Amino acid sequence: MNEFDAISLENRLSANVFAKRPIVITRGKGALVWDIKGREYIDCMGSYGVALLGHSHPKVVEAVCKQAGTLISCHSSLYNTKRTEFLQKLMSITPKGLNKAFLSNSGAESVECAIKLARKFTGKPEIIAVMGAFHGKTMGALSATWDKKYRDPFQPLVPEFKHIPPDNLEKLKEAITEKTAAVLLEPIRGEGGVRVPPDDFLPGARQICYDKNVLLILDEVQTSFGRTGKIFCCDHWHVTPDVICCAKPFAGGLPIGITVAREQIMSSLKLSEHSSTFSGSPLVCAASWAAINVLVEDKLAERAAVLGDYFKVKLKELQSKYKIVREVRGLGLMLGLELRYDVHSIILKAMDRGVLILDAGRNVLRFLPPLVITKDQIDMVIQILDEIIGEEENERSSGTVAN
Ligand SMILES: Cc1ncc(COP(=O)(O)O)c(C=O)c1O
Repeated sequence: MNEFDAISLENRLSANVFAKRPIVITRGKGALVWDIKGREYIDCMGSYGVALLGHSHPKVVEAVCKQAGTLISCHSSLYNTKRTEFLQKLMSITPKGLNKAFLSNSGAESVECAIKLARKFTGKPEIIAVMGAFHGKTMGALSATWDKKYRDPFQPLVPEFKHIPPDNLEKLKEAITEKTAAVLLEPIRGEGGVRVPPDDFLPGARQICYDKNVLLILDEVQTSFGRTGKIFCCDHWHVTPDVICCAKPFAGGLPIGITVAREQIMSSLKLSEHSSTFSGSPLVCAASWAAINVLVEDKLAERAAVLGDYFKVKLKELQSKYKIVREVRGLGLMLGLELRYDVHSIILKAMDRGVLILDAGRNVLRFLPPLVITKDQIDMVIQILDEIIGEEENERSSGTVAN
């Protein structure tokens, strides 16, 4: 199949809901991917944070191949040794006290389970989220997501969700009422522009939730698995929530969602009140077992902290060099570069020069590279960004491009 056929067939045969970029990726290794014409790219998209171990990590490939030849599916109404081994491994990295999990297939599903848990455990209906939050696009998760463009076409959403200004402890205190079940937060808002809260926010939110007797749910779908320099982002502030939602990189690239809660909370869900056909399939559990091993043995969280600091310093150099760069944000290898203008053309130019970058809103470049990215690859990304931002700044100052 050639590039043209791949693009036109995929456009014709699949729902047109993704903002597609005109390249066809056929292969990946570490932090690199290759297109159908053999062109190499440094992948700072990382499949939206999924490819955290790097593409096709050999240990994950080995585990998947071995398990695929043994047993791929096994419904959770039957016991399975791979699932048991995986759950044990998972509990070795989850924050203390969070020791019972529901396994699913995506981030949104992990949030759906958390919402149901909060309502079931507390007997109350209301979920408080923040303006700018992103929690997924299924109806429950979407009700907690903020952006109007995702929500408006699908009203009415699930009732009893409300949004308050982010990072504001006073507003949070005021918002909690008799009917509040839980506060749902991303430790760092990813889609919302890579926004790190002030240091007192998460510990303060934790305390308020204790005082008011409501659950604190952290959506760590984008921030966990070492991405920010700690296995769970909440560890930066020594905060333990009541429920954590995980997904993206946890199975080394295979689909997974995980909702982990305190035993008492998870046990409030009774027989048949929640389920998913693919929950805890042996294939995904084998992949995730291997992925957690790599994360821990290769000390990838520590690597993210060190390389993230390096990457951030380099991005800050761009900020001091160019007026159109407004701010550098993030922790570990979850970084954002806010520009004064739309970043769309920069993303396309970077792709043309061999670097894949995400956005996070109209004017933020977002970097979620595999944690195995090398310093040389980061240098190359910076060099290409330096060229492109320089060109954009020149074009804008000479009036070639409308501001
Ligand atoms: C913080 C957060 N929560 C939930 C989701 C939804 O995950 P999924 O797309 O796997 O449903 C995402 C996806 O980007 C996310 O970033």
